[in-house]
Amino acid sequence: MRLEMKHISKSFGPVRALKDVSFDVQSGEIHGLLGENGAGKTTLMNVLAGTFPQDSGNIIIDGKEVFGMTPKKSNDLKIRFIHQELNLCNDLKVYQNMFLGEEYSKHGWKVDKERELIHAQQVLDSMNTGIDASTVVSELDTAQKQLVEIARALLFESELIIMDEPTTALNSKEIEKLFSIMSALKEKSVSFIYISHKMPELFSICDRYTVLRDGEFIQSGFFKDINEQGATELLIGKRFVAATIRSARAVPATSGMVLKATNLCGASFKDISFTLHQGEIVVFTGLQGSGTDELATSLFGASRLTGGTVETKNGLLDMRSIRDVMRSGIGMIPRNRKERGILPDLSIRNNNSLAFFTAKHNKPFVNRKEEIERFEKSRKRLEIKVSSDLDLITSLSGGNQQKVILSRWLELDSDVYIMDNPTQGIDVGAKFAIYKLVVELAEQGKSVLFFTSEYPEIHQLADRCFVLYKGEISAQLTREEFSEELIMACSTGTHREAHK
Ligand SMILES: Nc1ncnc2c1ncn2[C@@H]1O[C@H](COP(=O)(O)OP(=O)(O)OP(=O)(O)O)[C@@H](O)[C@H]1O
Ligand SMILES: [Mg+2]
Repeated sequence: MRLEMKHISKSFGPVRALKDVSFDVQSGEIHGLLGENGAGKTTLMNVLAGTFPQDSGNIIIDGKEVFGMTPKKSNDLKIRFIHQELNLCNDLKVYQNMFLGEEYSKHGWKVDKERELIHAQQVLDSMNTGIDASTVVSELDTAQKQLVEIARALLFESELIIMDEPTTALNSKEIEKLFSIMSALKEKSVSFIYISHKMPELFSICDRYTVLRDGEFIQSGFFKDINEQGATELLIGKRFVAATIRSARAVPATSGMVLKATNLCGASFKDISFTLHQGEIVVFTGLQGSGTDELATSLFGASRLTGGTVETKNGLLDMRSIRDVMRSGIGMIPRNRKERGILPDLSIRNNNSLAFFTAKHNKPFVNRKEEIERFEKSRKRLEIKVSSDLDLITSLSGGNQQKVILSRWLELDSDVYIMDNPTQGIDVGAKFAIYKLVVELAEQGKSVLFFTSEYPEIHQLADRCFVLYKGEISAQLTREEFSEELIMACSTGTHREAHK
């Protein structure tokens, strides 16, 4: 398929999300769409998928203009949109979700369950997902749900597949698999539009790029003609200095203990012991399945510990109550806004105030002025792009929703922050703002436990780094010791003995 979008404009009330944007995608091309949070990427794709109409501009497919695009029309044109947010019905089975709205029928009216099951399973198997098509979706984890979303797009013979941050919940193996499926489909002339904030992914899979900034078209070209630095500068619109934020900071001499975990055990990890000191940033990392995901949620009090204790200066914590953990001075920034996190029916301001009200609020009335000031502070600090904080949270772009969640927890002014992959879906510039903030917190004497799987974040932040492998600590490395190679070796168990 050859796609041209010409002079597309779209406003939401006073917000001009797209201003005269043009770009094109050739047959058998993987086209990267780049831009900061709120730049207009998802909106442009929603126009193409017929989610809502453009205010002006044209969509031309294989030389013919399509008037009044609707979801049905775009489906019939073999365009598939894998959304930034998960879009599955938790109560239905995997195959039912995959065929939702496009059921195979038998005798003209009855759903042909058998045929759907077989076909769905074929696609899931071809992706090596290990997912059974008859599982109920609520039993899958986030990564599996994301894979089902992708499988749904591959089910029908699509000619253009739009992927809006498809990899935020996937591990590196799953990403590799996805890329090989994309390459195979590309050979068959399927085109892709690929949206991501992860530069290495864009550079490895895409042919051409288009950069949007503040709803405007900035530039298109070939990835082979630019580098990451150049691409970053295009999208933020000024020289980007990837300063090493961390190097200015002296590693704190071992100060007082603020959090101590002893022999923690859960379903996928065991015997985890560590101490977090005042003013220290400790990073936990590991491949998917290593236990880091569940360790983080257990420390939040959100999944159950089967053994071990967690204590603060004030004594042992009751890990069964999230509220108790919060009240003990621990702030928690959970991962996966996709699933947890936002309350879609509430405003931006209310979403922002949630944690504060749960943990700190003890007056009969809400002080609006304070509430507004608190949000204003975060908005500046994290560069949250909003027109009014009374708008629904769902009117924000994906990355800006994530920033509100961050802000929600930062407001608590905790002594200890546990952050679980907080930069998912956040653009380059804002990522650095978050790193800076974490370092600032540490300099103020706060302590941070940071979970991440991205080496650059470890490098930017960690005073110490724990690597998990098969549910156990395979290495504890100081800043002087760690390197990307060593951490990879410890994550895969090949370096196990040397660094116990
Ligand atoms: N339904 C809506 N109502 C009001 N404003 C909206 C709506 N959808 C998008 N916007 C606004 O349009 C602008 C562009 O948003 P969009 O979701 O396209 O950004 P994005 O480039 O996808 O960003 P991200 O990387 O954060 O996902 C933002 O300012 C956003 O707040
Ligand atoms: Mg988006």
